[in-house]
Amino acid sequence: MILAIETSCDDTCAAVLEPDGRRALSNVVHTQTEHARYGGVVPEVASRAHLERLDGVVEKALSDAGTDLEQITSVAVTVRPGLIGALLVGVAAAKGLAYACRLPLVPVNHLEGHVAAAYLADPRLEPPFVALIASGGHTALYSVDEPHKMRLLGETLDDAAGEALDKGARMLGLGFPGGPALSKAAAGGDPARYDFPVALKERNNLDFSFSGLKTSLLYKLRALDENQMREELPHLAASYEAAVVEALDRKLLRAADLNEASAMVVAGGVAANARLRERLRKECEELGVKLVIPAPELCTDNAAMIGAAAPYSKAASFPDYLGLNARST
Ligand code: KG4
Ligand code: ZN
Repeated sequence: MILAIETSCDDTCAAVLEPDGRRALSNVVHTQTEHARYGGVVPEVASRAHLERLDGVVEKALSDAGTDLEQITSVAVTVRPGLIGALLVGVAAAKGLAYACRLPLVPVNHLEGHVAAAYLADPRLEPPFVALIASGGHTALYSVDEPHKMRLLGETLDDAAGEALDKGARMLGLGFPGGPALSKAAAGGDPARYDFPVALKERNNLDFSFSGLKTSLLYKLRALDENQMREELPHLAASYEAAVVEALDRKLLRAADLNEASAMVVAGGVAANARLRERLRKECEELGVKLVIPAPELCTDNAAMIGAAAPYSKAASFPDYLGLNARST
């Protein structure tokens, strides 16, 4: 069985998976609450919190799976990209476990992990497919030709989609993380009330841009007094969320069309968004294209997705893995 560890941002995660990585037996996520008061993730706080929590999270992952370290055959860990201090905590712990238990260590790319969550959602899924990763740090489209071969088709030129949602939520005085907070505030709101720009609409490329959206929200807010702001909040939240969804949806469909893809995968924290999921489901049904969007808890950061990517990453044995390093990019 695979023991997987993920500490690239503000979630301390461990999971146990079957050896082929297509089924998780446990998936423990401890979301650090320390960052809420700062309105964003503070890297040094994240590293310390990982250090304090990781042992307990690994123990829980083993016990939830009804197993122990003796049954584990490899340790998988996120090595990049992410917050360097946060990644280092996971990598050091994984090295220690691999050494103590005489196990191979599998370095996993976090983005490949997000895509691999789709293999847990649909264990029979095989490439080729087109994948959209939309998270707090990344927004990109890939053509996945083999599990370990992701060809970049387009990416954001500025903010990530999750970042745009987080910043928008912050401007509206909502909580962090912004994605779920915006969705909650948008309940009952009219998504067509405000016109937010969708960038790079006309251009025949697959890149994204979300910075104009933020500026547009700023100007709309400046025109409102406090009372109007309270009344308009659901409509502003709904319209803003709809603009982000529109951009993601439009580019993903275009990528699938240009690549003549018969399957699409949507991954990353923003793929937990209900509006995006529903809209894509309807469209793919009409187009006859297979759509795989993992359950929301497999879209946001977790270790099961890292374990799911492990069979496609090259394992390192002792003493080679001692030289393995985390990387921020
Ligand atoms: O993948 P993830 O958990 O961490 C990164 O690798 O960045 O993504 C976090 C991002 C945040 O920006 C958060 O606001 C967004 O995903 N997010 C959502 C939802 N849940 C999380 N965005 C929209 N709707 C959601 N339900
Ligand atoms: Zn992520």
